[in-house]
Amino acid sequence: MSDYRLVYYSANRLSGSDAEVLQQIEQILDTSRRNNNLVDVTGALMFTKNYFGQVLEGPRAAIEVTFERIQQDTRHGDVALLEFSPIAARSFDSWSMAFVGSAYNDSASFDKIGRMTGFDPSKQRAEELFEKLRDLVQNAKL
Ligand SMILES: Cc1cc2nc3c(=O)[nH]c(=O)nc-3n(C[C@H](O)[C@H](O)[C@H](O)COP(=O)(O)O)c2cc1C
Repeated sequence: MSDYRLVYYSANRLSGSDAEVLQQIEQILDTSRRNNNLVDVTGALMFTKNYFGQVLEGPRAAIEVTFERIQQDTRHGDVALLEFSPIAARSFDSWSMAFVGSAYNDSASFDKIGRMTGFDPSKQRAEELFEKLRDLVQNAKL
């Protein structure tokens, strides 16, 4: 069975000081790494002041269950599925959840994608977001 890749985009609903927001992100990443590792899901997460972008890769059923849970989470909203399709190979196989950007160093480029998509699902935009995430992971100090 081939792996699947899911890409979504959502509105960041975290509030608080920068330090509080970062702490909440760390919590999300800790939980994600623990859970994803158990079900063979890998991926990458990006956030800015306004948006989250996430790629999940792995067995279809595991991704579906994980995404169901993620969609219920009130720390974000307006979750827009951009892509869910089979892939020949994973791009993030080393990371149960790579963190690839934050409001503090990448908001300009990511917000530009936000304005362009306007939460409107489209294959082309999904690919653009995915390329963006992959570029960031490749250049990230992980
Ligand atoms: C932007 C965002 C991304 C998330 N990504 C994941 C993820 O990749 N895997 C995961 O298990 N939970 C993720 N979560 C957390 C889930 O929504 C949920 O809180 C968590 O899975 C519950 O796990 P627990 O029952 O072990 O506490 C994410 C939450 C947010 C807001």
